[in-house]
Amino acid sequence: MTDSRLGLLSLQVRPGNPDFLDLPWQQPMREWSGRCERLVELQRGLSRHDVVFVAYGSAVYAIKELPEGLAEHEYDMLLKLEERRMPSVFAAGHARMRHAGGEVRAALVTRFLDASLPYRTLFQNPGLARYRERLLDAMAGLLVRLHLAGFYWGDCSLSNTLFRRDAGELQAYLVDAETTEHHDTLGNGARRQDLLILEENITGDLADLEIFAELPGSLSAYETGPHIRERYEALWAEVNREEVFGPGERWRIQDRIRKLNALGFSVGEIELESTGDGDRLRMRTIVTDRDYHRHQFHNLTGLVAEEKQAERMLNEVLELKATLAQRDNRSVPLSVAAFHWQRDRWEPAMKALAPLLGPQVEATELYCQVLEHKWFLSERAQRDVGMETAMKDYVEKFRPAAGA
Ligand SMILES: Nc1ncnc2c1ncn2[C@@H]1O[C@H](COP(=O)(O)OP(=O)(O)OP(=O)(O)O)[C@@H](O)[C@H]1O
Ligand SMILES: [Mg+2]
Repeated sequence: MTDSRLGLLSLQVRPGNPDFLDLPWQQPMREWSGRCERLVELQRGLSRHDVVFVAYGSAVYAIKELPEGLAEHEYDMLLKLEERRMPSVFAAGHARMRHAGGEVRAALVTRFLDASLPYRTLFQNPGLARYRERLLDAMAGLLVRLHLAGFYWGDCSLSNTLFRRDAGELQAYLVDAETTEHHDTLGNGARRQDLLILEENITGDLADLEIFAELPGSLSAYETGPHIRERYEALWAEVNREEVFGPGERWRIQDRIRKLNALGFSVGEIELESTGDGDRLRMRTIVTDRDYHRHQFHNLTGLVAEEKQAERMLNEVLELKATLAQRDNRSVPLSVAAFHWQRDRWEPAMKALAPLLGPQVEATELYCQVLEHKWFLSERAQRDVGMETAMKDYVEKFRPAAGA
């Protein structure tokens, strides 16, 4: 429908999605029922605006009707969030339309987030009880991630978040970016404001829910907001913590990275800076998202690795980059550090580990096991034992017996 008086005035759709031209755009969405065969019923959170779900084959989309101007802003914000690999719903397009009464409205189209649960479902379905406690960490983690990437949410609430189960954990996704803003870096004032909004909204969400569902004792309506805030503060402090260490303590770089990985953060950059106090160095880590390492590692080295393996080896490349930069007193491109890593660490290791390699032993997994071994020996010795020592020790321990 492209009638300019009635129906669609403009429609922008990203490639890889249907054109949505068969939808009854000339009608307000609350009247689509009975007029649109693509409508499907799915669980969803509370919202001020009308939201409908439409199916095109196996692909399902959420369409939200908004006052003119708002859809475009939200669409732009969702693209920015996606660019920075934030956990959020994916924008598919936006539209402007004129309804029968002459009013011009806008619509935002997003891909339905598969396997996502609104918080109400999480609380009302007895089978999901074990995930409820994970909600605190999931919300705190989401907000830290957004803030680190410069996003102010402006309306953080349980209704504006979707949850996905992930190996016993819960991942939180931003679903409503209407009030979101992006800045190069987010000031403390904006962070504080977001936390205030979070506390207030969460209290409201849970107080509402309490009317018809029993909340677990650990998630009371008035304490949950402050608890999420506490976890946020602890996570923020940990992620942004700077560490100072001496020349023989390089193993602490990997130790720090591992701690951040264990909290669900990947490290994109390590900065080492002289403290001016003897040989002591100050370390600052910049965290990124989870999937990032596998692709980056492949781009840099041509090697194919699993996500965790790539993360470990890339951490080594980063350590090398920071060490080279500090030694030469100038910044070193990551590709240069990767070249050094491959020549000076990976290739010699593959030679030394040749006796252990075989059709059933993946080279990248073996290398990571040796890294693990090195880390273990270094921690025990409280100094960096070096790759050569670790490899020798490892080969001695695990070399197949002669004639075996
Ligand atoms: N892409 C999507 N995937 C899954 N569910 C979605 C998606 N988009 C919207 N929803 C569901 O629709 C609900 C309402 O969406 P949204 O929060 O964007 O509406 P809103 O009217 O802007 O909300 P508010 O009242 O906070 O302004 C969400 O809580 C979610 O359950
Ligand atoms: Mg909302």
